[in-house]
Amino acid sequence: MRKKIVAGNWKMNMDLAEGLKFAGSIDKYFKEKPSGKALVILCTPFIHLAGASEILKHGKVALGAQNCASEASGAYTGEVSAWMVKSTGAEYVLIGHSERRTFYHEDDKLLNKKTLLAINSGLKVIFCCGEVLNEREAGKHFLIVRRQLEEGLFSLSEEQMDMIVIAYEPVWAIGTGLTATPDQAQEMHKYIRDLVKEKYGNDCAKKLPILYGGSCKPSNATEIFSKPDVDGGLIGGAALKKEDFAAIVEAI
Ligand code: PGA
Repeated sequence: MRKKIVAGNWKMNMDLAEGLKFAGSIDKYFKEKPSGKALVILCTPFIHLAGASEILKHGKVALGAQNCASEASGAYTGEVSAWMVKSTGAEYVLIGHSERRTFYHEDDKLLNKKTLLAINSGLKVIFCCGEVLNEREAGKHFLIVRRQLEEGLFSLSEEQMDMIVIAYEPVWAIGTGLTATPDQAQEMHKYIRDLVKEKYGNDCAKKLPILYGGSCKPSNATEIFSKPDVDGGLIGGAALKKEDFAAIVEAI
């Protein structure tokens, strides 16, 4: 059985006090009402990591960052390395989110470098991929996702692939209220799993969690998660409301 995962991506929201209070309330919620089969992960801004790690350490909720540097250490003012993230107690890091690709011009080569650094620091990577609207409209979505995976991820060894979760996030669905239909999600997830199978073999493909992201909410989560190749979700907006986030976890 593949791991089921619901990861919340807080993006650039909440100050330190607000974030730690919210992490505390999520921790308490899942202590009282265990998430069953689903692994719950909170991907917080850097400033929350150390405090949230203390709050979450005796509970069931895992912690991740939303980014890390593309260099290991040194004179890179303003950057936070994968190893620094790991030292907070975080276990995961998002790499290649479309907002990083778009606003900070992170390309496949850079994302590959970040992924390797993160894995070598002992972090598990939630590697994001997905096409923009005009790429889908032009029928290029499979090609784009294939390129993102081949160039960003497929230099990894089979052993390193154990540290990977893939998140398929069609960019046109992120924060827009538009969602991929469950069939569109399934079609792409299956395509991704087949690519992994081609490259790494059936065992690796079978155990790889592939999450859907993009306007996932309580009202559509059950249907999307019911698809055979959808192993959970990467949740943005709805991860900022405890009731919505909990309902999405329950949908698993
Ligand atoms: P959304 O964001 O759920 O707000 O669409 C998802 C994401 O960007 O990870």
